[in-house]
Amino acid sequence: MNKKSSIFTMSGAALGFLLLTACGGGGAMVEDDSAEYQAYLYRDSLMTLAANRMALIGGMAREEIPLDEEAFIAATAQLAALATMNLDGFENQTIVAASRTLPAVWENWEDFQQKNADFVEATQGLADAAADGGFSAAQGLVQGTAGTCGGCHRTYREREE
Ligand code: HEC
Repeated sequence: MNKKSSIFTMSGAALGFLLLTACGGGGAMVEDDSAEYQAYLYRDSLMTLAANRMALIGGMAREEIPLDEEAFIAATAQLAALATMNLDGFENQTIVAASRTLPAVWENWEDFQQKNADFVEATQGLADAAADGGFSAAQGLVQGTAGTCGGCHRTYREREE
């Protein structure tokens, strides 16, 4: 895949949309610049990125995606970095309509912080193992790391309809 070519191969319409959005004329994408909505966008974006990296890591660990060791190692480091940024997205205590965060987060803030600390620790352990010993050293830690995602969602994320 040639990453550089992507912006040039975009259709005119897509590019126009991108420019509109970048200039703040995109309407829906900048509908709400309140602190509450921005906090939601922050955590939702962070979770989307974390899920993307986890899908790659997990897919390779389960041998469903062809192994690219360099990409695997990079993704574990990226996931660990994202984990350290997660708590910042929960400091604003107002839940906007689009958000799936449950009020339990702030009712049990200590426990939520602990769940987040488990996530940070597991992703860092995974990244360290991958950096030191490559895929074979990290593969066995992937399932446990993914478990820290569900460990938090079970209590603190609203279920999908
Ligand atoms: C410390 C708690 C916690 C951890 C750890 C955590 N999440 Fe989340 N996650 C949440 C909460 C809370 C939400 C709901 C956010 C919102 O909508 O306000 C969420 C939302 C999501 C979403 C939904 C985004 C959307 O568009 O609705 C995805 C996907 C997700 N998380 C994936 C992950 C993955 C993958 C991991 C692990 C690599 C992870 N999360 C770790 C708490 C956590």
